Amino acid sequence: MPVTTRSQYKAGKLALTKGIRNDSRKASLRHTCSSCKDAKAGSVESGSDSDVDSVLSSNNENEDKAELHLDLLKATYAHTVDLIALEKQRNNAPVFSRTLLLQIRKQRQKILQETYLPYERRKVKHLAWRAPDGHLTNIWARTKPSQTGQKCKEHVRVEFVPRIALDPDFQRDFAGPAQVEAVIWLREYNHAITQAHGAKQLHFDAPYALKTVEQEEGYAHLDTELMQRYRDALVQSLAYWKEHSDLHHKFTKMIEGTAAISAPIKKIVCFGVGRVRPDYMYDSIFQHMAIFSMAQDLIKHYEAIGRKRRRIQIVLQDPCYEEADWTLFRELHQAMGCNPSTDLEFVQDPDGLLAIDSSTMVIAPHLPTTFPWSQIIADLFASGSGPAVIIGDCPVTDRRQFGKKTTFTFRDRGSPAVAKFLSDRYVVFQEGLWSGGDGTLLALGIDEYSPFSIDWLPDMDIYVRKEDDALTD
Ligand SMILES: C[S@@+](CC[C@H](N)C(=O)[O-])C[C@H]1O[C@@H](n2cnc3c(N)ncnc32)[C@H](O)[C@@H]1O
Repeated sequence: MPVTTRSQYKAGKLALTKGIRNDSRKASLRHTCSSCKDAKAGSVESGSDSDVDSVLSSNNENEDKAELHLDLLKATYAHTVDLIALEKQRNNAPVFSRTLLLQIRKQRQKILQETYLPYERRKVKHLAWRAPDGHLTNIWARTKPSQTGQKCKEHVRVEFVPRIALDPDFQRDFAGPAQVEAVIWLREYNHAITQAHGAKQLHFDAPYALKTVEQEEGYAHLDTELMQRYRDALVQSLAYWKEHSDLHHKFTKMIEGTAAISAPIKKIVCFGVGRVRPDYMYDSIFQHMAIFSMAQDLIKHYEAIGRKRRRIQIVLQDPCYEEADWTLFRELHQAMGCNPSTDLEFVQDPDGLLAIDSSTMVIAPHLPTTFPWSQIIADLFASGSGPAVIIGDCPVTDRRQFGKKTTFTFRDRGSPAVAKFLSDRYVVFQEGLWSGGDGTLLALGIDEYSPFSIDWLPDMDIYVRKEDDALTD
């Protein structure tokens, strides 16, 4: 039976509700507009038959659309690809090399430098990726900012192509429903959509794409009332963390256990730990709090065993962060007394990936499978070594079929290369439950908690690199 990880379940649910919500929102907007326009002529309340019919048929239409969308998602998640064959076709060569990530960083910076210029003075029109056989694919194209002025800022998003989406059939039929943004953008930049045969005729082997996105400046950090609510939540969460030793002791025990058998950890690189939002505050606070606490536990552990005291660098990468998050998490870091022993750094894609080295603990809880972090790490370290510790939900797909599994679906985070990398070089320190932790109940008043994210440790697989010199400094 296929295993559904929490993140995949979350992603599936989100995609479903998003799709359905979008449809119904569009419908409700349509309805509002027409009812405004027709208010005098006879609104729904007036009971006109044609209005009632049109509402009913629009409801039916939405239901049909939602059902179609659901069927398409089911088909997307069920479609299997032989990734062993696909990787063999590509001579089992790593896709996401360090050189590639450095190139992505350079291209991103090149685009960003020009965003400070008025559109008319920008020179770069396209950026390309060169395949090993020399052919070029556009991975970015300049777009005119729709809004100028102080309210919007241009950012550059990086999207990677997960292995499964390199498969021509999957790419053709399912990259859209699976929301593999990189493929959607590649189609746009390479005029695939406007070609006579449509996108269906084209296959891209570029493993990433970049996009300039305009984002309204987040002003949460200037909203004193909102920031006060967030700060209250920080204080409340910290108090809970201190009072409920059972929750944070789980993390301490795990750190002591992994540190005892792993190479010395000097850096913790985290992906997707999430931002604080008015409707969803505690999940990301608890995840950051646990990570800061783990860094302190590591330092205490090394001191206890007589190792030289070293600062630990915490690197956080999440495209969602806004200025309010940087402020709040720095405050949390300080309130937890971390400043004297750990450094905190917020980075953008792909800098978190590039920061990973052999003395890094990687933490990646519940990320979308469209960000193939475990595939990127396996490729980055294809020639040897790897991060000291890897903590994430389901990086290998299905432990029970370790190495035997050939066909993969979009639900699978791993790939044959990931399975080989982990089975050759790592020991499993903890097998994640994949189906939800026991869910620590939170204090009254923390009413929006999600056990998945607050008590997130039981859900994680934990891998420790096999190391001859694990106990040397
Ligand atoms: C489903 S949420 C998980 C949040 C939280 N870690 C949890 O366990 O509930 C996925 C998170 O991954 C982040 N994410 C998506 N792409 C990412 C990337 N390329 N690098 C880092 N984070 C990413 C999203 O912004 C979001 O915060």
